[in-house]
Amino acid sequence: MRVLVTGGGGFIGSNLVGRLLQLGHEVAVLDNFLTGRRENLAPYNDAVELFEEDIRDLEGARRAVTGREVVYHQAALPSVPRSVEDPVLSNSINVDGTLNVLLACRDAGVRRVVMASSSSVYGDSETLPKTEDMATAPKSPYGASKLATEAYGRAFHAVYGLEVVSLRYFNVFGPRQDPQSHYAAVIPRFITALLEDRRPTVFGDGEQTRDFTYVDNVVQANLLAGAAPEAPGLALNLAGGHRYSLNYLLELVRGLTGSTAQAVYEPARPGDIKHSQAGIDLAQRVLDFSTVVDFEEGIRRTVDWYRAGEETKPAS
Ligand SMILES: NC(=O)c1ccc[n+]([C@@H]2O[C@H](COP(=O)([O-])OP(=O)(O)OC[C@H]3O[C@@H](n4cnc5c(N)ncnc54)[C@H](O)[C@@H]3O)[C@@H](O)[C@H]2O)c1
Repeated sequence: MRVLVTGGGGFIGSNLVGRLLQLGHEVAVLDNFLTGRRENLAPYNDAVELFEEDIRDLEGARRAVTGREVVYHQAALPSVPRSVEDPVLSNSINVDGTLNVLLACRDAGVRRVVMASSSSVYGDSETLPKTEDMATAPKSPYGASKLATEAYGRAFHAVYGLEVVSLRYFNVFGPRQDPQSHYAAVIPRFITALLEDRRPTVFGDGEQTRDFTYVDNVVQANLLAGAAPEAPGLALNLAGGHRYSLNYLLELVRGLTGSTAQAVYEPARPGDIKHSQAGIDLAQRVLDFSTVVDFEEGIRRTVDWYRAGEETKPAS
């Protein structure tokens, strides 16, 4: 199948590219490398057609989607703090850019578009687990932009019959995640600190929990969402469906790295939610999704990847 991954130079996008190639698909990537890295695509350079374009440019998007059956739209400015600093930039990439991708797909006769959304559309509600029937209430321009893309996806499905599926990712981690990123980067920060035997910083008492999701599970859900007959028009949670505390995560990483460095506990950051967990029944039912790599195994693979330090190494 001929497919396109927008944002294919990024963390999640490049892992998806690797898996699509393994499955024998003909893969193109659209990326302007704003937050992505060319090294992420180095293992696939010969196999991938690269469109170095900006999704804010409709003609560039049209060039990349022509002749594709499925488009996996991962490109975005994926940062809450950057959206707070510059909501106009966040909107222009995430919303205007997505609208361009959808228009280009509609006009080129693309069959299906799978779009990356985010748990941030739920805001800071403390109800757990978060399920798709809950009210959305984003608390950042980034969350608002992702909710807008979901709305456009639904509208394009309703009005033009374009098969659009949105996946709300929860705290994705794994090889190629940037430890410097502001976004859900606690795992790479803990791992890189403990590999160097430095003391990691924990904000709060470490008992806060998150539904950390290993990247292979996100890749798997994208593949399923590219074909599931009942998925078009929906926005589905995508996560492991469990939650893990930062203290448990630290224990795991200490065990794997052999470090005995203790965390430095600092005051909790204002606005940080205590717990997050996704309900994934809908994805299980509609996509037939189930976890392919569990949390502990995901952490082990991620530690191995950072330890090897070979940033161009393809994910397993
Ligand atoms: N990592 C997570 O935990 C998480 C959680 C929820 C949602 N998401 C979403 O998943 C998607 C992938 O995120 P990621 O974590 O891999 O981030 P990433 O920054 O590694 O990937 C984003 C990619 O989009 C590209 N890009 C940015 N602006 C572009 C533009 N104007 N034109 C073309 N390409 C552009 C970047 O260069 C990068 O390669 C994003 O849509 C993000 O919002 C990620």
